Amino acid sequence: MHTIVLATQKGGSGKSTLAIGLALAARQAGFTVRLIETDPQGTLSNWQRRRSNEDPVVEPIYHAAHIEPRLKMLADSGLQLAIVDTAAGLSAATTAAIRHSDLCLIPARPSVADIEATVSTLSVARAWKRPYGFVLNQTPIRGQRIDNAADVLAEEASLDLADVLARPLIVMRNDHQDSLAAGLAVSEFAPNGKSADEIRRLWRWIETRLDLEVTTNRLIDQVISAADGMLHVAGERASGEITALAS
Ligand SMILES: Nc1ncnc2c1ncn2[C@@H]1O[C@H](COP(=O)(O)OP(=O)(O)OP(=O)(O)O)[C@@H](O)[C@H]1O
Ligand SMILES: [Mg+2]
Repeated sequence: MHTIVLATQKGGSGKSTLAIGLALAARQAGFTVRLIETDPQGTLSNWQRRRSNEDPVVEPIYHAAHIEPRLKMLADSGLQLAIVDTAAGLSAATTAAIRHSDLCLIPARPSVADIEATVSTLSVARAWKRPYGFVLNQTPIRGQRIDNAADVLAEEASLDLADVLARPLIVMRNDHQDSLAAGLAVSEFAPNGKSADEIRRLWRWIETRLDLEVTTNRLIDQVISAADGMLHVAGERASGEITALAS
């Protein structure tokens, strides 16, 4: 199972909207998906109440200590994707979710305040060595403001822009607000619209990123197990030689 967390200290940057949009985009791409709500504000639960379709299930987990065991249970049950929405600020539940994630997505509007607010989330993701990416959300269609915001985020992460900035940028459009109000995801509300297209492409970026992480982790595991094997053989050879010398 892959676990994606949407987190940033700044309120209103689009965590819940993106969580819903991505959940449906992933479902349409064939994944089984659960939305985990760790924000007592209840944006996802309220959204689900306005909806006639029960899939994806929204599961509230507000206690930090319950996050890891529940994610493990969901993984054991065969679920393919958990998307965790978090509250603004940096609560114990958010830290626990980031710690157990495969990818921490940090949404930011292209404003100084939003970008500054990404720092604390970024440091948690780094402290737990979790992969992360910024999502620039509610952007104008184009302009210098976006380029500046993207450059500052890359600088903050001290990494190449292509490695940390999710693509595409998500433009500010009414479809996002109208779909939330209707209990729909943007790809259900206006499947042929530009917003739905952007969210689907964002999901594809995430999917590629998750695959890369899985491949990298698998390679690391293979190297570790090969090194273990070599150490084991060397250890056995050494103990054989010691026995031969002793006899
Ligand atoms: N790309 C977008 N275009 C237009 N409106 C958007 C977009 N993304 C989010 N919004 C709107 O911005 C508002 C805040 O979004 P949302 O509730 O997803 O943010 P949040 O980060 O979850 O906020 P909170 O920190 O309060 O949980 C909502 O009204 C939402 O519909
Ligand atoms: Mg929210």
